[in-house]
Amino acid sequence: MRVIELIKEMQKTAENYRLQGKKIAFVPTMGYLHGGHLSLIRLARSLGDIVIVSVFVNPKQFGPNEDYDRYPRDFERDKKLAYESGADIIFYPDAKEMYSPDFLCYVEVEHISCILEGAFRPMHFRGVCTVVAKLFNIVKPHIAIFGQKDAQQAFIIKKMVKDLNFDIEIVTAPIVRENDGLAMSSRNVYLSESERKNATALYKALQHAEKRIVEGERSVEKIRQEMLKILESSSPSQIDYVAFVDSSTFQEIDYVNSPEVLVALAVRYGSTRLIDNIIVKIS
Ligand code: PAJ
Repeated sequence: MRVIELIKEMQKTAENYRLQGKKIAFVPTMGYLHGGHLSLIRLARSLGDIVIVSVFVNPKQFGPNEDYDRYPRDFERDKKLAYESGADIIFYPDAKEMYSPDFLCYVEVEHISCILEGAFRPMHFRGVCTVVAKLFNIVKPHIAIFGQKDAQQAFIIKKMVKDLNFDIEIVTAPIVRENDGLAMSSRNVYLSESERKNATALYKALQHAEKRIVEGERSVEKIRQEMLKILESSSPSQIDYVAFVDSSTFQEIDYVNSPEVLVALAVRYGSTRLIDNIIVKIS
């Protein structure tokens, strides 16, 4: 497995693979890899000839009071795990390589970047879309894999690809969870022992929503109140949102009548902010 740190070298390498007729599958990450990331890399391995993983903690997608500086990093471990999961190349640029001091260009997907996560993290999706667009131009993938864990991010990237005509197929991979249901996340290491136990409430609340919808409950407000009870009993420091959206449009609903509903939430324990979601298909 090769590690490439320079943009020009990555572009040249990708171009060579393309000229050889190889299909490039790409997994963008911010590193500190866990089972969720590794499932994406394994999926990429099954879909492409060449698997490229990027490891870059993107400063542009963190707010001024967020965790950019303390975001966990361990490149030696990432290298080993990516290799074991089937990566051929890790693209590992530093921030100066990605953003020159005169950098001025941003990609913004309007409206859907301002709700849910976007309402609590203004500019976050602008930073995500900008770095992903840059990575697409650097890695030149035919196919890119994103996790359903960040459902809004995956939806926004698909919209960017469609609206800006990137010739790239976007694949969404299912959420990988710990045995007790907590969605795997690089940020889980921030949780204290008791917070870690309490954080299982996120998935419990989502499973409750699924059960209620399957049972036939259609009032979003009723289900939301029941979910809030479950979440509130887990001593969170803040519940940012519990949202129901039509998964085909990402528009919030107050009555369950679309064929597929995405229930998404963001909850803080201490200073750690966790997100999770579930898709409920209505038969
Ligand atoms: P990061 O949080 O490192 O996540 C990289 C990819 O792994 C994302 O597509 C995310 O949805 C996926 N992922 C994370 N946890 C997962 C889980 N438990 N199960 C399945 N997939 C999971 O998302 C980012 O980085 C950044 O915003 C990035 C797209 C790299 C742009 O900087």
